[in-house]
Formats: sequence, C-alpha cells, structure tokens
Amino acid sequence: MFENLKPLPDDPILGLMVAYNADPNPNKIDLGVGVYKDEDGKTTIMDAVKKAEKVRWEQEDTKTYVGIPGEAAYNDAMHELILGKGHAALKDGRVKGAQTPGGCGALSMAAGFLKRANENTTVWVSTPTWANHIPLIGTVGLAIKEYAYFDQANSAVDFDAMMSDLQKVPAGDVVLIHGACHNPTGADLNNDQWDAVTDLAEKNGFTPMIDLAYQGFGKGLEPDAYGARLMAERLPEVVIAASCSKNFGLYRERTGELMIIGRNAEQTNISASQAYSVIRSNYSMPPAHGGALVRIILEDADLRANWEAELKGMCGRINDLRTLFRDKMNDRGHDFSFIAKQNGMFSFLGISKEQVHRLRDEYGIYIVDSSRVNVAGINSKNIDYLADAIASVLLQTSVN
Ligand code: LMR
Repeated sequence: MFENLKPLPDDPILGLMVAYNADPNPNKIDLGVGVYKDEDGKTTIMDAVKKAEKVRWEQEDTKTYVGIPGEAAYNDAMHELILGKGHAALKDGRVKGAQTPGGCGALSMAAGFLKRANENTTVWVSTPTWANHIPLIGTVGLAIKEYAYFDQANSAVDFDAMMSDLQKVPAGDVVLIHGACHNPTGADLNNDQWDAVTDLAEKNGFTPMIDLAYQGFGKGLEPDAYGARLMAERLPEVVIAASCSKNFGLYRERTGELMIIGRNAEQTNISASQAYSVIRSNYSMPPAHGGALVRIILEDADLRANWEAELKGMCGRINDLRTLFRDKMNDRGHDFSFIAKQNGMFSFLGISKEQVHRLRDEYGIYIVDSSRVNVAGINSKNIDYLADAIASVLLQTSVN
C-alpha cells in the first residue's frame, strides 16, 4: 500500500537547515530556522542550563515515568513565569497545565483538547502566521479561518483590519494570537491593542489560544507576558501554549507547556482531565529532562538571575543587529527602518520569492520563501556581505 503515497516537498523552514548544511559556499549565511546564534554563528548551551544539568545529574535518582502532565513543580514554575506570582487565576485555582514535547506539543494537544470541547469550533489564525500553525491545527481536524494582521505596505500590524475581522468571530470559536514576537513578521500588538482584543473577546465570547514561544525575546520577560496575563485575568477561558526552546535554548530537549485556564476551579479540573486524555492517546507523557532543567533554574535564585541576564543579553544583541541592519541598508540606499521597530527573532524583508531564491542560489543566503529572516543569524562578520547581496538583488530586480 505504500505505493499509494506521493512524495512531499521539504518542510518550508526545517528543509532550509538541510539545504544550508549541504551548501559548500564558504560565505553562506543561515537566516532560516528560528534558532538563536551568537556573534560566532554558534548556538551554544546557555550557562544556566549547563549548570542546571550538573545539578540534575547529581539529583536525579530514577528514570521511572513522569506521568501524563509531567513534573508538577515544572508546571507550577512555568505558570508563575508566564502569569506572574500571585496572578488571580492562579490564586483561584483556574489554571492547570501539562509539560509537553516543545511548543508544538502544547499547540497540538491544545488543538486536540479544543476539538473535544467543541468539535465544530473554528480556529482563527493571523495572516500570516507561523508556517506550522495551520498544518498542526488542521491535522486534528479543526476548521481554520484567517484574520487580517500584517500590513505589508507599512510593515506593521493593521489593527483596524484585524479588529474588523475579529468582530466576526462568534462565541465558541477560537482565536490564535502570538503572545509576543510575532512569527514570522516581528510586528506585535501594543498593550492598548491587547486591551481592545480582550474587551472584544469578553463581549463576543470567543476563546483565545495564545502561542507564547518567545517570552523574553521582545521587550522582556514581564512585558512579553502582558497579553497572556491580561486575558487570563479577565476572560473565563484561555488556552496558552508556551515553549522553552528559545528562551532557555532547549530546542532539541522539546520542552513546552500547555496551560488551560477555565471559568472556575471545577471547570478547569474537568477540562484538564480531557486534555490529559488527549495527551495519553497521543504520546502518553512528556520527556523529563528539559522540564527538570527549567524547574531547577526557575527555583534557584542564583541560577535564575544567571538565566535572566543571559536572556537579556540575547535579546539585546538581536535588537542591536536590527539597528545595525537598518543602518547598513540605509548606507546602500534602502529604507529598512521597520526592522528596527519590530520584536524578536523574525522580520519579513518584504522581498519577493524570486528574490529570496536568488539570494539562496547566487549568494548562499538562506531565508524562508516568505522573506522571513532570523535576525539572530546576522553577525558583524556577515552583515556587509548580506547587505551587499540584498542591495544587489533589489537593484538587479529594479533594472530588469
Ligand atoms: C521557526 O519558526 O523557525 C522555529 O519555530 C522552528 C520551527 O519549528 O519552525
């Protein structure tokens, strides 16, 4: 029966890793997959994580199963990191969670849970959204619709268009919102806009699902959680899918968190029992290692301070690169000032797919077809080559 299968193209993001690795060009630059890189182009293990691994090695005394929701202390630590200590939803027992295999695991289990809650629900996603959102939610069998989000002409959120689309979302539907550092555009809601979306959700009764994969990469750990905290406090039902891939650099350890926030403690417990049953019928229970490291870091004052300082440094480096890139392009006669106004790892360059392919084929510069760049892949050694290549592709296109 396997002969019935048709070959599929490579994954639009992860496929770039393979192509980049196979490219012999000594000047090649990887601006594809969302992985933080330092000035030497390396994705090193964070110092706090290395130290936590030592503690873990000394402390761990069993390899028995962790159970469906994973480690309770990890879940608690994540809930506090995301919602803040003493958040009303935590005090009221309205939050239950599960450690998941990465943010993808959290999103996927969230989708399965939402299908159980309302099999006719539609999940509304921003245009554009992360390339894996639609396949991941669609696989579960949920209907998907899109809401306007990004204004290509101004490289910013088109909030009026977004609100006009969200007005149409009925009670019982779900709106997927990026908590911070919108992937792929880097264009985020400001606090007033979060307030307005929350008012609308309260009035019309739709349920937000917040994808928080970049807490700490935008304006900081606290400000990046503004929307999640607000919605969890004001709305009766919220789902949050968080990831520790980026802010703890735990990519391959697949460490994430699914949070279900219900109307009251009783409804939350019922909801969690359904979510745990979805998990059990998928991967049974999560891997333990990454969650244990996060828990060790968050519970220890020194390790936590160490981690927060490192995260701040990573975020600061990305912001400096944004400014530098804007200046380098400005020196070459191109206005990319929007890049310095956006948040997180990603931005759209706003160039065509053909131009993206020319960068890849002629210069060995790897960018997602949508023109999304991982700003963290830029460094002081490759930025002039990159800026020259983009300027040349833009010039050749305008001449042709
Ligand atoms: C990305 O958007 O590049 C990352 O979140 C990695 C992935 O799985 O796509």
